[in-house]
Amino acid sequence: MSIFNRKKDTKRIAILTSGGDGPGMNAAIRSAVRCGLAKGYEMYGIIHGYKGILEEEIVPLNHRSVSNIINRGGTILKTARCPEFRPLEGKKKGVEILKKHGIDALIAIGGDGTYQAASILWDNFKFPVVGLPGTIDNDLKGTDETIGCYTAVNTALEAIDKIRDTAHSMERVFVIEVMGNKSGYIALEVAIGAGAEDVIIPERPFDFTSMCEAIKQGHKKGKVSWMIIVAEGAGKAVDISNTITTMTGLESRYVTLGHVQRGGVPTGQDRILATRLGAAAIDLIEKEQYGKAIGVLQDQINVIDLRDATQKEFKHLDEFYSLVQILT
Ligand code: F6P
Repeated sequence: MSIFNRKKDTKRIAILTSGGDGPGMNAAIRSAVRCGLAKGYEMYGIIHGYKGILEEEIVPLNHRSVSNIINRGGTILKTARCPEFRPLEGKKKGVEILKKHGIDALIAIGGDGTYQAASILWDNFKFPVVGLPGTIDNDLKGTDETIGCYTAVNTALEAIDKIRDTAHSMERVFVIEVMGNKSGYIALEVAIGAGAEDVIIPERPFDFTSMCEAIKQGHKKGKVSWMIIVAEGAGKAVDISNTITTMTGLESRYVTLGHVQRGGVPTGQDRILATRLGAAAIDLIEKEQYGKAIGVLQDQINVIDLRDATQKEFKHLDEFYSLVQILT
């Protein structure tokens, strides 16, 4: 069916993924498409996120379009960061294009930037939109976890387990930088899971002197290797590694894990979370509840206003931070 030749009495729903991709986004797309089709809606995909709206990359999706993707990382709809969509003028143009294509509702999957844009589409233009939390950073309000965060932590842990072998054999300090934008969430989870000696996150002040003193004391007692995790928003691994060598006299190396954390086969938890969220997005659209962000809180589907969802919320910060300090 042509994009302009719509069925009567049905909704036409478009899905996009925007900003940094995260493992599990495909599972969310699959779930939303198939749940939407099951309710008789027409489903469309927008390629390259908000950029794809402006460039009119809008394609119909059917049951088969989302076959064999539940286990794939990345996003079949592609994603981008789009400076042209940031000003109000860009969003106004986007709404005109969506209406021209007969889109009745939009599902926007992404992180805080995606949510900010989506909330303006609703608040300023009353364009029907719901948001799903798709980011490895896990820095959105209204959900315990975001799609991709489980896999990103596991990917970092797999890499760090390997680094530990060489760190111990060559008796070195390793500083490992993980992603997370301005949030220390990934760093803290990874520090606990890796059994790291210390963690440096933007949410907590950090005392280099006492960390280096602890390393020196440990060295005197026969300790030979250390794993220090640093969140990208808290400092550069290379600088921290150099500081440690200067202050302790011990050999130090650094690793920046970078985009490796964004890829790979999504874990079962990410696939299940994404599938539940994709289905919930269709339910919300059926009820015509727009301008909402959907999450899972204490294992229940949770809905809050999109404009509130971008306020960063760090789950278990105090508990997790003190665990790292105690277990060192
Ligand atoms: O938001 C996801 C994220 O991976 C952040 O952790 C990181 O700061 C950023 O995206 C990197 O973005 P890009 O891939 O555009 O360099």
